Amino acid sequence: MPSNHRVGILTGGGDAPGLNAVIRAFVKRAVGQLRWSVVGVEDSLNGLLESPYRVSELTPQSCTGLLNRGGTVLGTTNRGDPFAYGREKADISGRLVSAMQDLDLEGLVVIGGDGSQRIAYRLMTEHDVKVVGVPKTIDNDLSATDMTFGFESAVAVATDALDRLHTTAESHDRVMILEVMGRDAGHIALHAGLAGGADCIILPEIPYDIQRIVRKIDKRRAVGRLFTLIVVAEGARCAEATAGEGLHGEAHSRIHTGGPALQLAHQLVARRDVDVRVTVLGHLQRGGSPVAADRILATRFGIAAVDLIEAGRWGEITVLRNNSVIGVPIAEAISIYRQVDVNGELVKVARAVGVELGG
Ligand code: F6P
Repeated sequence: MPSNHRVGILTGGGDAPGLNAVIRAFVKRAVGQLRWSVVGVEDSLNGLLESPYRVSELTPQSCTGLLNRGGTVLGTTNRGDPFAYGREKADISGRLVSAMQDLDLEGLVVIGGDGSQRIAYRLMTEHDVKVVGVPKTIDNDLSATDMTFGFESAVAVATDALDRLHTTAESHDRVMILEVMGRDAGHIALHAGLAGGADCIILPEIPYDIQRIVRKIDKRRAVGRLFTLIVVAEGARCAEATAGEGLHGEAHSRIHTGGPALQLAHQLVARRDVDVRVTVLGHLQRGGSPVAADRILATRFGIAAVDLIEAGRWGEITVLRNNSVIGVPIAEAISIYRQVDVNGELVKVARAVGVELGG
């Protein structure tokens, strides 16, 4: 006898290519095949916290055309923490419990990054809300899963940008700096840098010595390579504070985007007579259609979320481990942040093909 579940599904935090593919897969299996009812909650948990509720019944029909669609049809926000809501940072988490009762929701599927999963964990532990998690971030910085969907799409966009910068850099004998996203992890920078043949890859995990970058440019020029392609992660920082040049500590974290690339550009022109151009890729990395690998992973996660609920494994999150999708406790998924392993194979490969990592 199939059990008749009725669950809510929502997307939280920043968007990532593949969110809609998760929703589609979940609804196709849960509603189309198992005859559950699935309620889409708008704008993360906000759709349940506001009156009237902003929710809608999802069906396989309402999810047509979602596989390759970027963004999230449910909407999202990173300002919807029910434990610290609005300007007053009020704890209105109790409202969520009554909303779930009003709508007869047994539990929630939370598709989101570490911030959303932390909130999900608090809802579970403090209010007994049943939650199944699906991890999401283009940064690929969640240690619990070998891969998050959205990452490959972001890397593809950044690689394409490097390919394009390559030809113009070569034509003008310029130093081209591309800044990519990733918060405090350099996965996007490292992967795109390798795929796009960058000469220097600057990661948050390896504070850079500006002299090493300058030497790399000099060496290239000495052998007639008059241009240099540099990819910088948005969380990158210089090893040494240089008066008037650098943004460090609190200032560094406030100047979120464009900070590290501009800082590096200033440092280079102060030391060499080079023509430097800066491109900050920004949200182009998050928008648009997911690549095939992300569509597949998102679909696998959507189906795995149904399987977890069917098996009564609330409190778990879908993760990819050794190419199998499994469930692990949400608590495990939020406990460790994953940065680039500076002694790992990819870093060694980068060094072995002559990439300058600045440290
Ligand atoms: O975590 C995903 C991410 O895109 C980071 O790479 C970036 O630092 C951040 O979100 C940007 O957030 P927002 O869209 O709020 O500017």
